Amino acid sequence: MSSINPHVDLIREVFHYKNRFEGSIMVFKIDYPVTEDPGFPGLVKDLALLAKTGFKIVIVPGVKENIDAVLKDHSIDTSREGSPLGIQVRITTSQAIKYVEMAAFNVASRFMTFFSGSRVDALIGNFVRARGLGIINGIDTEHTGTVDKIYADSLGRVLSLGMVPIIPCIGWSPSGKPYNVSSDEIALIISKALGANKLFVVTAHDGLNITKLTPVETEKLINSESVKSQSVRELKLALKASQAGIHRVHIIDGREEGAVLKELFSNIGVGTMIYTDECDSIRIFHSRDLPDILRLMEPLMQNGILIRRSAEQIQEKKTDYHVLEIDGSVRACGALHDWGEDKGEIAAVATDQKYTDRGLGRQIVGYLIEKAKKAKMRHVFVLTTQTQDWFESLGFKEASVESLPEKRRKLYDQSRKSKVFALEL
Ligand SMILES: CC(C)(COP(=O)(O)OP(=O)(O)OC[C@H]1O[C@@H](n2cnc3c(N)ncnc32)[C@H](O)[C@@H]1OP(=O)(O)O)[C@@H](O)C(=O)NCCC(=O)NCCS
Repeated sequence: MSSINPHVDLIREVFHYKNRFEGSIMVFKIDYPVTEDPGFPGLVKDLALLAKTGFKIVIVPGVKENIDAVLKDHSIDTSREGSPLGIQVRITTSQAIKYVEMAAFNVASRFMTFFSGSRVDALIGNFVRARGLGIINGIDTEHTGTVDKIYADSLGRVLSLGMVPIIPCIGWSPSGKPYNVSSDEIALIISKALGANKLFVVTAHDGLNITKLTPVETEKLINSESVKSQSVRELKLALKASQAGIHRVHIIDGREEGAVLKELFSNIGVGTMIYTDECDSIRIFHSRDLPDILRLMEPLMQNGILIRRSAEQIQEKKTDYHVLEIDGSVRACGALHDWGEDKGEIAAVATDQKYTDRGLGRQIVGYLIEKAKKAKMRHVFVLTTQTQDWFESLGFKEASVESLPEKRRKLYDQSRKSKVFALEL
């Protein structure tokens, strides 16, 4: 077999995700500083590409810093108060609201300009019905509002026409009174109302360096001291969204070129995904996985790290093999062979070379160890030529060839001089 062509692999991956998510609804909450970044036109181009490809996308621009600047230019002071929503809101007076509207629509119009440049129909709309927050801590919040209702049917119609709705941070009461509403809140409630498949929180700062988080891990991180304060707001938004039933929330750095496409069309992504659905899992090998595991093992067999196994040999022992899938693609494998004498051999452990150092190898070995325990084995071992340090880091200890079960000892290849490492269970 020839070595893997990375381009072909990438194209396959893109098609996999295109088929999986095509037609799905994705909401993009994009922080204001991203719209000021030199990479902003490129970001909108990528979003336009998604819309043209059949993804239904909704844009919720963040405007906070722009509103601050516009109000400052007009010498209007505003304060912030904690709201019943658990977030700080700007007290928007009747003097401030027209400037807030101006700032919000200016930003929305920037998106419109770049979507037009990509020949995608976009629409700035009044899809948010709002109501006033009333009096908080004795302060009349005047034009500060909260989402009362999302006109989801109208939004759905716009999306079905292939258009991109852009939702400014303004909502109107049934009588037409404008309210300044948090764009985080709008993004959250729109995602929920539309049953969005994904919410992207697009920021303008470095990411967390964490690929995936469950909601429980997200909560722990929010309460930990290690997280930078700049990330807390988006983590809180992501947590609320996942609790509201959005299965995947992605926090990405919008300044990074192609960040949305990379996050969407590759298994590992570039940002942090807060997920509530199963995205990687270990399962038993099926015959249809044969090309995938041969693809993983071939380069390692070619350079002698793994011993050569034919398709037939793998099929013969197929119940011993397990694969680790990420979003439906096989990215790691391993086998547990039972040699009797309560001893099992962990073998054919391989991680896709593009996915190393992400804990996949550890996961698969851990899974095989658990399997051995369930099968009442008392001891697992590996034969390795180049990976002894790694197995040692997993708790394995060097053992002698003599300690191998008899049947396996007879097959020991003296020319390979593999070392034996074992773990008592
Ligand atoms: C060994 C292998 C399975 C590890 O897969 P992986 O998914 O990258 O493993 P993990 O992410 O769980 O662990 C990565 C860690 O192990 C370290 N590591 C990887 N290969 C190593 C090796 N040969 N020796 C020592 N350490 C190694 C990495 O540097 C990394 O360290 P870090 O956590 O401190 O950053 C993978 O590199 C591979 O496929 N190797 C070739 C096949 C092989 O040797 N199989 C074992 C014989 S059955």
